[in-house]
Amino acid sequence: MFAMTMPSTYKLNTGSLMPLISDTAAVYKNEGNIGKALKILLPKHGLTREDIFITSKLGKLKAIGISNYTMKHMNELLLQCNIKPAVLQIEYHPYLVQTELVDLCKQHNIHFQAYSSLGTTGNDKLLTDPVIKSVADRYSKTPAQVLLRWSVQQNIGVIPKSTNPDHIRENISISDFELTEEEIGQLSGLNKNKHFTWNPEKIT
Ligand SMILES: NC(=O)c1ccc[n+]([C@@H]2O[C@H](COP(=O)([O-])OP(=O)(O)OC[C@H]3O[C@@H](n4cnc5c(N)ncnc54)[C@H](OP(=O)(O)O)[C@@H]3O)[C@@H](O)[C@H]2O)c1
Repeated sequence: MFAMTMPSTYKLNTGSLMPLISDTAAVYKNEGNIGKALKILLPKHGLTREDIFITSKLGKLKAIGISNYTMKHMNELLLQCNIKPAVLQIEYHPYLVQTELVDLCKQHNIHFQAYSSLGTTGNDKLLTDPVIKSVADRYSKTPAQVLLRWSVQQNIGVIPKSTNPDHIRENISISDFELTEEEIGQLSGLNKNKHFTWNPEKIT
């Protein structure tokens, strides 16, 4: 069973544990409110600050995360840096399967974290793709769950964004089914090198 063998966290090269599924909507321009909410919610659920992993953009660093670094940027960085980053966050989904970059990160023990796993806000191209839908139907799951599962099963973190509580519940309920290697390959085979957000290739 996946639930027993598949880790829900990834050990960063700093030694910290990071969840493979997280929702970063919480850390965008609302740190104050998040702080207030955590003060109430952590004790309510018997948790402490150490039980949660917060991704943010300022402050004392425990782990360096970078975003939108392509192969070219990564190769430049790895040639020059003293401390390797712990995480690379970049667009990744079955229409944009960045195999070379995933492999480079694996080789350097840098956690690969996908954004826009569901095809980004206002776009349903992935959620209505017939191949993804047919795999979802096979497991009585939704296309969103299959998209997230496809990444997580490859040890790639996901940060699906949602303002809908039902969607949020759905997005974290992906531990009770397991895609076959063939299905993972089938989804990866949909690759079109298609960026739904933007292409960082041209940034020098
Ligand atoms: N580093 C960067 O440059 C960069 C760039 C883009 C995004 N990001 C990060 O990536 C995160 C997510 O990426 P994204 O914003 O591009 O979008 P995404 O997670 O691919 O998609 C979000 C959209 O999917 C819908 N959705 C969520 N769960 C669903 C479900 N179970 N079924 C159907 N629809 C569902 C949401 O609508 P509802 O609200 O209605 O659920 C929303 O419209 C963002 O929060 C952001 O932090 C980073």
